[in-house]
Amino acid sequence: MSPAHFEDHSADISPRLVDPNGSEDEQQLEAALRPKKLADFPGQERVRDQLGLVLEAARRRGAPPDHVLLSGPPGLGKTTLAMIVASELEAPIRITSGPAIQHAGDLAAILSSLTEGEVLFLDEIHRMARPAEEMLYLAMEDFRVDVIVGKGPGATAIPLELPPFTVVGATTRAGLLPAPLRDRFGFTGHLDYYKASDLAAILARNADLLGVPATREGIEEIAGRSRGTPRIANRLLRRVRDYAQVHGRQVVDLGSARAALDLFDVDASGLDRLDRAVLEALCRRFGGGPVGLSTLAVAVGEEPDTVETVAEPYLVREGYMIRTPRGRAAAPLAWSHLGLTPPESSLGGALFDPAEGGDGRFTG
Ligand SMILES: Nc1ncnc2c1ncn2[C@@H]1O[C@H](COP(=O)(O)OP(=O)(O)OP(=O)(O)O)[C@@H](O)[C@H]1O
Ligand SMILES: [Mg+2]
Repeated sequence: MSPAHFEDHSADISPRLVDPNGSEDEQQLEAALRPKKLADFPGQERVRDQLGLVLEAARRRGAPPDHVLLSGPPGLGKTTLAMIVASELEAPIRITSGPAIQHAGDLAAILSSLTEGEVLFLDEIHRMARPAEEMLYLAMEDFRVDVIVGKGPGATAIPLELPPFTVVGATTRAGLLPAPLRDRFGFTGHLDYYKASDLAAILARNADLLGVPATREGIEEIAGRSRGTPRIANRLLRRVRDYAQVHGRQVVDLGSARAALDLFDVDASGLDRLDRAVLEALCRRFGGGPVGLSTLAVAVGEEPDTVETVAEPYLVREGYMIRTPRGRAAAPLAWSHLGLTPPESSLGGALFDPAEGGDGRFTG
């Protein structure tokens, strides 16, 4: 049994309610809430319309569509869309992931067992082993694999024809994909963070599926704190539902949403305790910075790595925090979020302090 079996949350920041990455426990809950059709997938209009067109055209031609690459941050619906592709095509789907394919042979085994029209979902495709990647190029382009028979100088490659199939690749790091692989996808959809109104639509549908009555205001409150991420929205909804049920309210309304999310330390902007601690330290202790990552981490009692990978991405993305060559600095939004007034020169000082610029580190 893992130590996590005992309910000791003292030292860990995960399970963090606003973590965009899913946990294993969550997978089944998520699967139950995944929309099955494109029409039930709110948000991402562009990707949805484009993908709809690609699928419809393929259906009319009676042939498998081009290979599809889905990229974007965690929790925005890549896996969900991959499942939808198969279900819209009424095709079987084979699911595997980059880390599971460490040898070309692993991929050869999968490819050679695909049936015509099957969808091959390759999650985390950027983490596939190089030799497998090269095999995939050929398979995607020519529907062929070269099976190597024998070893050493006597080894021969026997080409094996494959039935036409469709690869759906998903990646959080499209930039890490080698260009030749990227080029073999006929359609690339990039998912972006959701508008609050789209999250509200998702939440309303899921509250229904969970059998939890919810008011519009309650739903909107949760949507506003969900960081543009459906996975987080669903997680917050479950906590609000718990709260409502335990407090005998039965309904997810504005009051229970606020009370529950305050209890779980997710504030009105979706920042949690760690996020706020980082901003507090930046503004109150370091006058807005810039301050080095490790100094900042010590101030909030975390590892630098945690601050950098857990808190920072969202704070930077939303414009609370700025990364400068000399460290982290508070943006005006950080000050206003904490109800503080920034010192006159804080931002200018952080970014363009001419005295500091003269220390030689920026020249050259
Ligand atoms: N547009 C959407 N409508 C309804 N639910 C959605 C939508 N997008 C995502 N979800 C829900 O959010 C959760 C996470 O989505 P999904 O697993 O598809 O994300 P992902 O992009 O594959 O994330 P990761 O990068 O971690 O694999 C799922 O429960 C899914 O049902
Ligand atoms: Mg996924």
